[in-house]
Amino acid sequence: MGLRFLDQLKDQPLWLLLLFTLGSLSLLKFLFASLKWVYVSFLRPAKNLKKYGSWALVTGPTDGIGKGFAFQLAGKGLNLILVGRNPDKLKDVSGSIQSKYSNVQIKNVVVDFSGDIDEGVQKIKETIEGLDVGVLINNVGVSYPYARFFHEVDEGLLKNLIQVNVEGTTKVTQAVLQGMLKKKKGAIVNIGSGAAIVIPSDPLYALYAATKAYIDQFSRCLYVEYKNSGIDVQCQVPLYVATKMASIRRSSFWVPSSDCYARAGLRAIGYEPRCTPYWPHFPSLGFDTIAAGINCRFLETRFLPWDPKERTA
Ligand SMILES: NC(=O)c1ccc[n+]([C@@H]2O[C@H](COP(=O)([O-])OP(=O)(O)OC[C@H]3O[C@@H](n4cnc5c(N)ncnc54)[C@H](OP(=O)(O)O)[C@@H]3O)[C@@H](O)[C@H]2O)c1
Repeated sequence: MGLRFLDQLKDQPLWLLLLFTLGSLSLLKFLFASLKWVYVSFLRPAKNLKKYGSWALVTGPTDGIGKGFAFQLAGKGLNLILVGRNPDKLKDVSGSIQSKYSNVQIKNVVVDFSGDIDEGVQKIKETIEGLDVGVLINNVGVSYPYARFFHEVDEGLLKNLIQVNVEGTTKVTQAVLQGMLKKKKGAIVNIGSGAAIVIPSDPLYALYAATKAYIDQFSRCLYVEYKNSGIDVQCQVPLYVATKMASIRRSSFWVPSSDCYARAGLRAIGYEPRCTPYWPHFPSLGFDTIAAGINCRFLETRFLPWDPKERTA
């Protein structure tokens, strides 16, 4: 059967053979990519995060994804430095983590990234002095309270987005990197967004998407800069996660809870420079859903009368 097929091929015109070769190569590439995806999503073992160091620093740990990461990291036995703006919420979160994982040490640092960042970063530097910080989760981020055109973004919101999403992540990274460089190991995770990476544009959230595009490129450059110094930099790209920022309360298959996302996020640490850890968020698999989302948003923004105040990030 195989030989007959090869004999038949010999009699075919050159253009058909070329086409057949190209098709076969594309199929092989697709098969290889699919197998790799299955391995990465379900079979690849997670890295032992304790090997990076005994402490992890999480920004924005009092809610949503950051809180999920804080619990997951504590579950792996890492001590935590939690950096948040609200002292009561910090106390609540560290209290509940400690009641679940009593052997974990926790240090809270109060920093409002929309305030004096340099002062906040100084506090972080003083707290981590002498600690073996191996993992940094740059999670803190803000978006618009509701969809709006760029000319409607007021000065306060503009400053807030750039300061929290861009300046905060950049300066915290620089502060923590110094210690990682000395011991030649560390993992830095920057939380990006599908708004900048998966969809071609995110109208009415332009500034948010642009700050996340910064995070993506920043992470990729650092990945290359520090790979040989034993530091793994990664941009994680979630799509929708059920948090207060997304204004989604109930999780579903496509929209995980923050715990579920963080569990997947933890398994990806230390591998690719950019990844989408929660597998149903994998862009090509979820493409129809994403495309439907884009179309909806365009329809709403272009053709339907709507009140932007009713829309959230
Ligand atoms: N949820 C999604 O669908 C989604 C999708 C893609 C990317 N992301 C990204 O994931 C990250 C986390 O988002 P999330 O959905 O978990 O958001 P969230 O539920 O709103 O939580 C944000 C966290 O950041 C803290 N925070 C906000 N502003 C701060 C400030 N000025 N100073 C210090 N801390 C501040 C919040 O503190 P309080 O508790 O005091 O409010 C909270 O701990 C963000 O970078 C976001 O862009 C989220």
